[in-house]
Amino acid sequence: MKIISAPDYQSMSRKAANIISAQVILFPDSVLGLATGSTPVGVYKQLINWFEKGDIDFSRIHSVNLDEYCGLPVEHEQSYRYYMDHNFFNHVNVPKANTNVPNGLAKDFDAECRRYDKVIAQLGGIDLQLLGIGHTGHIGFNEPDEDFDKTTHCVKLKQQTIEANSRFFANEDEVPKYALTMGIKAIMQAKKLLLIANGADKAEILYRSLFGPITPSVPASILQLHNDVTIVADEEALSVIREKCPEAIG
Ligand code: PGA
Repeated sequence: MKIISAPDYQSMSRKAANIISAQVILFPDSVLGLATGSTPVGVYKQLINWFEKGDIDFSRIHSVNLDEYCGLPVEHEQSYRYYMDHNFFNHVNVPKANTNVPNGLAKDFDAECRRYDKVIAQLGGIDLQLLGIGHTGHIGFNEPDEDFDKTTHCVKLKQQTIEANSRFFANEDEVPKYALTMGIKAIMQAKKLLLIANGADKAEILYRSLFGPITPSVPASILQLHNDVTIVADEEALSVIREKCPEAIG
């Protein structure tokens, strides 16, 4: 595990974008696992900036996103398909057909989950998976206390997640209660993992995830078992790690 510290959000975003662009430049037909939420917005902005300068070509990549809310149409501003199109895909040259987000409007969620697993398998797995982390320690929407060996599945969101995400909606009642998420199994099978975090509110969960017991009650704790995981976080998010195990920060 490699922990890279950044002084602030912008620097975190740039350092993480550097890792993604290195992957795409060295392996132009990479399969990127992508994430949504407020944390990666700056990473996508930086990648778009480098694309516009002609430094990166996304025309041969494929992407699979971690998750999607159930029940939101793709044109809903809070759907993750909308987020990806507007924050990234529409601004670079990745063919839309190469991009995958679970279909949260599927009539049969089980069938949709199996289809999504097949998409990942047919692409040959994920080369580099970008991850944020929730206050519960969730990665994707893999909420605490689920089995680690799940593939894509439908989850009932924890109240804490609904509250955290209500900032994006008019009120808490509008936050969908269910989501489809790639499972921990597919995430752990990715060749490389890149976890990003910023802000003091992530400091405790980041420490527990990376240095606490490996347990389904902290889903991100499984990352300790991956052999190629890089964490890029700002100093605020690293504050507890900085205090308790400073030697771990590169
Ligand atoms: P955030 O969400 O980036 O909006 O903090 C992270 C997550 O819930 O995975």
